[in-house]
Amino acid sequence: MTDATNAIPKNEPHPSSTPRRIVVGITGASGACYAVRVIELLAASGIETHIACSNLGKRLLAEEMGITKLDPDALSGGHGARLVIHPGNDVGAACASGSFKHDGMVVVPASSNTLAKIAHGISDNLVQRAAQVTLKERRPLVIAHRESPIGMAEIEAMRRVTEAGAIVAPLSPGFYLEPTSIQDLVDFMAGRLLDLLGVDHGLAIRWDEHLRARRTQSE
Ligand SMILES: Cc1cc2nc3c(=O)[nH]c(=O)nc-3n(C[C@H](O)[C@H](O)[C@H](O)COP(=O)(O)O)c2cc1C
Repeated sequence: MTDATNAIPKNEPHPSSTPRRIVVGITGASGACYAVRVIELLAASGIETHIACSNLGKRLLAEEMGITKLDPDALSGGHGARLVIHPGNDVGAACASGSFKHDGMVVVPASSNTLAKIAHGISDNLVQRAAQVTLKERRPLVIAHRESPIGMAEIEAMRRVTEAGAIVAPLSPGFYLEPTSIQDLVDFMAGRLLDLLGVDHGLAIRWDEHLRARRTQSE
């Protein structure tokens, strides 16, 4: 799983064989279930998924999901083989460097604290550092913020990260697909976040498909 296993002769041109990689940052906002579902879907679709979790992110995983240890299988519904969990306070971890190639990062759930830190270029932990690097390398960064209501500090931080190239995706699921469970609501958001990262998934979250299904039912 580490780059060292793919050792190549120094400075030799070589064909690209890099698998798709996504970085997931988990922070101390409510909504740990969204993080677990996103990780599950990424890992299930064969994407090398790199996790960075803040201290408060760990607390919320424990309080809301009963996950007390950052275990690859617990975080990915049994698809842990493609998961790499980095120490959340190690700003020298692999995904803290711009030389670590990946296809995008999602911070889910994103606290107002982390949002503000990213907006102001502060990197106190690996989530913040990996997000900064994603922006500076002009890779996709999706910030799935959760807080309500929000004040001027959050609005200003959202403006700043948006101008820097990030997409702010508030964790605010729609109800037009007639959800009947919390899982439906979680899947709605998880699917939209994967869409923003350009990752295919089979979740039934599309309005046009819903309309078609409704029409078929009423025929
Ligand atoms: C139970 C609990 C729930 C919280 N929910 C939120 C939340 O939904 N949104 C938010 O911005 N902060 C929330 N916080 C506060 C953050 O955890 C706090 O600001 C922390 O500093 C965030 O650190 P981090 O950004 O490094 O994860 C919550 C804290 C606790 C203990």
